[in-house]
Amino acid sequence: MPSTLPVIPDIDDQLASRILEQLEAIEERLRDSVATSDDMVRWTARHLMDAGGKRVRPMLVLLAASFGDIGREEVLDSAVLVELTHLASLYHDDVMDSAATRRGAESAHALWGNNVAILTGDFLFARASGLSARIGPEAVRLHSETFERLCLGQLHETVGPRAEDDPFAHYISVLADKTASLLALAGRLGCLLSGAPAGTDEIMARYGEKVGVAFQLADDVLDLTSDSATSGKTPGIDLREGVPTMPTLLVRRRAAETGDPSARRIVERLGADLSSDDELSELVELLRQDPALEETRRLAERTADEAVEVLLELPAGPARDALVEFTRSLVDRSR
Ligand code: IPE
Ligand code: IPE
Ligand code: MG
Ligand code: MG
Repeated sequence: MPSTLPVIPDIDDQLASRILEQLEAIEERLRDSVATSDDMVRWTARHLMDAGGKRVRPMLVLLAASFGDIGREEVLDSAVLVELTHLASLYHDDVMDSAATRRGAESAHALWGNNVAILTGDFLFARASGLSARIGPEAVRLHSETFERLCLGQLHETVGPRAEDDPFAHYISVLADKTASLLALAGRLGCLLSGAPAGTDEIMARYGEKVGVAFQLADDVLDLTSDSATSGKTPGIDLREGVPTMPTLLVRRRAAETGDPSARRIVERLGADLSSDDELSELVELLRQDPALEETRRLAERTADEAVEVLLELPAGPARDALVEFTRSLVDRSR
């Protein structure tokens, strides 16, 4: 049994084998959770699940459950619930972001069109709802609250800040809603359903809120620095769609406040037609060399430090140590 897990470089051997065992069980349950007699959905619903993915959210459920009994049925169900919800949101997100690739595979809408991609996402959300009902009323309530925040986060990203909003505060609240809410749910359910000590669920939810923002900021950096072979996505795709990210917000502020010529050059290009691949890669190159990238990286690190501060409220031991490692690996990653 290897002593390390894909997303956690250095973890206690005993804990690692328990988690690996549960991750295998989760894979099987994930496949079962989308089983259907429908000839088409059988393929479309398995598409992204089979394409890979880091399984960050199931891992977080298991790490949280390590403070209690990781072997409970409801713990496995919760891990499947959060991954299914994440998967469904990816089907919809790729339509909204016009993303051609995901997890190294063609995105669902590129293969079958927008309608099939959206409806497959809905199918997965429906299966997630059924699963939450099996876990119990508290899981239904928490899941629906999370789902609502996820939708609002995506919506607020789409419509952008109002005139009176600070664009940075708006952006961080978008990240908290669209991404961190699900990591907070993963941490909370892992504690609640494993019988972990009272209060750990609240701590893990606060941790999820922090680490989720750090994770998404790291994603902004990766969107510019990682090649598609590693990330499984197309670099700079957010730029083409005009989706704001932390580096572009920082460049815009610098251009407005200091008139810095290199920042202004990037802002001009951000507003230009980026449909050609050459134009897009030139802009990606300019952003890679801009100090905004390093600033975003530092902000991700600082937010991860705040997440680790929250972890220190948990009982000391291998589970907490693994969570600290996990936090670092989410920020310092290549995919
Ligand atoms: C992608 O999530 C969307 C974000 C919230 C950044 P992941 O980076 O966890 O994607 P997979 O599951 O590994 O594909
Ligand atoms: C991913 O958001 C979807 C959700 C968090 C719901 P992004 O659009 O920021 O992430 P990627 O880069 O496509 O994975
Ligand atoms: Mg998006
Ligand atoms: Mg996207």
